[in-house]
Amino acid sequence: MNPRHYFPLGKASGEAFCNRVEETQKLIGNFKNGKHTLLSAPRRYGKSSLCERAFELTTIPSAKLDFHLAVSDKDVERIIINGVIELVGKTIGAVEKLSAVLRKYTKRLKPKFGVGGKYFYLELAIADDSSPAENIAEALLLLEKLLQEKNKQAILLFDEFQEIGQIKKGRGIEGAIRHVGQDTQKLSFIFSGSNPHVLKNMFEDERRPLYKLCRKLMLGSISDVHYKEHLNKASKAMWNTLLDIEVFAYIMEVTERHPYYINYLCDVLWEESKAIPHLDSATKAWEAVVEEERSDLLKDFFRLTENQRKLLIYIARGNGNEIYSNEAAKAMDIPVSSISRGLNSLVEGDYIEKTEAGYRLVVPVYKTLLKVKFYKE
Ligand SMILES: Nc1ncnc2c1ncn2[C@@H]1O[C@H](COP(=O)(O)OP(=O)(O)O)[C@@H](O)[C@H]1O
Ligand SMILES: [Mg+2]
Repeated sequence: MNPRHYFPLGKASGEAFCNRVEETQKLIGNFKNGKHTLLSAPRRYGKSSLCERAFELTTIPSAKLDFHLAVSDKDVERIIINGVIELVGKTIGAVEKLSAVLRKYTKRLKPKFGVGGKYFYLELAIADDSSPAENIAEALLLLEKLLQEKNKQAILLFDEFQEIGQIKKGRGIEGAIRHVGQDTQKLSFIFSGSNPHVLKNMFEDERRPLYKLCRKLMLGSISDVHYKEHLNKASKAMWNTLLDIEVFAYIMEVTERHPYYINYLCDVLWEESKAIPHLDSATKAWEAVVEEERSDLLKDFFRLTENQRKLLIYIARGNGNEIYSNEAAKAMDIPVSSISRGLNSLVEGDYIEKTEAGYRLVVPVYKTLLKVKFYKE
């Protein structure tokens, strides 16, 4: 394998996929047993890669719905209905034999058969006077009933699900999903998302439809031990020897084991180094990453309010564990009463995450960027 393929910036699969053995098993255990899963982690921690890995290791068919760009309930409706059609194609195949089930469970959607390749496939046309939430409920229920009829299981992955919590008519859609999800036998859902605050509200508030529907899987970072093995494999593939211990420790430290930034840094380092790299090459590689990320991250940074920026700088400089104090407020020059609100919006925006001890940056590059004064305060 080309050594740089160990470090994709997109999804990690095959040899590029490091550990996550326990998480993969948990996820597989959930959907094999018909349980729904809430998978949450900051952006670029490996949620999509994990799901795909789990799907590869099972024979249960799956479809992925990506809500990244969904802004209205109509978008969500289209994405879910297309996903249902895809899964029907994968699991049921020749649907025309199941027309009794189709007739029984479609009132608003108009099932039609198209011909594609070997099989007839299902189309679900939407009546003008029906609401997206009703259509979604009907399509999901139809899928479940078809699966029951065929005695087959299937998985629907709702990726970037936090977006649904933020659209105007999201509640109705959550209600529709719950309506079907609360007594599925064959279909299991994975809700994957990155905004812990929004997800928490959607799944942990008893007044919201999705309350208590799922097993939870929180994705943390991957341990040093596993990364050591992983990076050493890539090092042997490239330079025929193990990675320098200091270099390994440096990679773990500056990236704070953020999977995306580990890959980014290693890709630069592996690309630039003709021979086994020493610490100075690793430092240079990190500088290159910071440089490439600088303008994007600063753009995000300047979208924040002044108080949020002050909080982020304070945390970047290593003070995330003692932030609710008069001294902290004084040092940041913001009122104590604004600290909590500012922190919440930074968490919502995936800039920081809450840990047991306090708050930490999600994106490790901010630490390097905000340590030095790069703009006038
Ligand atoms: N298990 C893993 N081992 C190594 N790298 C990983 C792993 N999971 C994810 N990554 C890397 O982390 C980054 C983000 O992965 P992705 O699955 O897209 O995350 P998310 O869906 O949480 O945003 C990518 O660079 C990917 O290659
Ligand atoms: Mg993803």
